Amino acid sequence: MSGNNFGTIFRITTWGESHGRAVGVVVDGCPAGLALSAQDIQKELDRRRPGQSRASTARQEADRVEILSGIFDGNTTGTPISLLIWNKDADSSAYDLLRDKPRPGHADYAYQMKYGLRDHRGGGRASARETVGRVAAGAVAKKLLATEGIEVVAYVTELGGIVADIASSNLLELRNRAESNAVRCPDHAAAERMLERLDAVRREGDSLGGVVVVTAVGVPAGLGEPVFDKLDGDLAKALMSIGAVKAVEIGAGRECAGMRGSEMNDPLFMREGRINFESNHAGGILGGISTGGTILCTIAVKPTPSIARQQNTVDLACGETAEIEIKGRHDPAIPPRIVPVAEAMVALVLADHLLRQRAARL
Ligand SMILES: Cc1cc2nc3c(=O)[nH]c(=O)nc-3n(C[C@H](O)[C@H](O)[C@H](O)COP(=O)(O)O)c2cc1C
Repeated sequence: MSGNNFGTIFRITTWGESHGRAVGVVVDGCPAGLALSAQDIQKELDRRRPGQSRASTARQEADRVEILSGIFDGNTTGTPISLLIWNKDADSSAYDLLRDKPRPGHADYAYQMKYGLRDHRGGGRASARETVGRVAAGAVAKKLLATEGIEVVAYVTELGGIVADIASSNLLELRNRAESNAVRCPDHAAAERMLERLDAVRREGDSLGGVVVVTAVGVPAGLGEPVFDKLDGDLAKALMSIGAVKAVEIGAGRECAGMRGSEMNDPLFMREGRINFESNHAGGILGGISTGGTILCTIAVKPTPSIARQQNTVDLACGETAEIEIKGRHDPAIPPRIVPVAEAMVALVLADHLLRQRAARL
């Protein structure tokens, strides 16, 4: 299957299926000499791990990373970094009925049409389990970015129609507040209401969608390649490649369509010998190239497709309309779990463009 790798210099290949033996990633192009430990990767995998709260699936995976190659004496060696995570708590029995009956809203039908067969257990390659490899690789990218003072932070701003009031612009504070509740929303009052709505919807056998903001600070001006590898284009591809993401906005996003030029433009000014912007409607990117401002992406995440309700589908074995009632363990809402995945994808894009930028000038 092609389409499993991402990036130009800092390049990753994820592999594995939800109920296969293991999942993992190969990171190629990471420069030698980066201090990297299993713990650096583990802490990001722990944030992605299911079964941690009432906002996530009950599947219990330890998700301990095994480093197979590319690191010696605590440093990257410049050779491929291969990371493996065993699947231990896969329960395929609940998926038997999916062999012939595609779930509405999931990738089952599309995979079947494309390949003529598929690993139906746990959603196979289209499962969120594939994001383990992304998050592990993203941890390497984050470590690389940290050497340049770049940080990526994401949090939930909307869930099931409840919109958070994000007052602070202090990224550290936003991250701490978001990571201290089950829905990863920095507005604790809104988080409480989101959880209540989530519980109610789950009792009805249904699911919710939401909105996640992903920001990056400390990004130098100049990242992004004209004309087809623009930074915003690559970020959009990276974020849209995550399952359940249905829209990506940069800066003011779709709101720009209703604005005037005088409202949309971010005027420049000098302060203490440095160039600043009065506002950030551009999301830190102009002409596909970073400006030195905060990178601001917003993603819309659809409600979890696997819901515990009777729905119509087809039986591919006999070619008849059929009914399906999905069993198994599913996230009642994806946004809280997508936070570390979205951070990983943005980190991967920035790490790649950081390395590409080093070849852009003498
Ligand atoms: C972190 C994460 C967790 C997810 N959890 C579930 C889940 O528990 N059940 C489910 O049916 N889909 C889940 N999904 C969504 C499916 O992977 C996704 O809807 C499917 O691959 C089809 O892709 P599409 O929605 O982009 O068309 C999750 C996605 C992500 C990124």
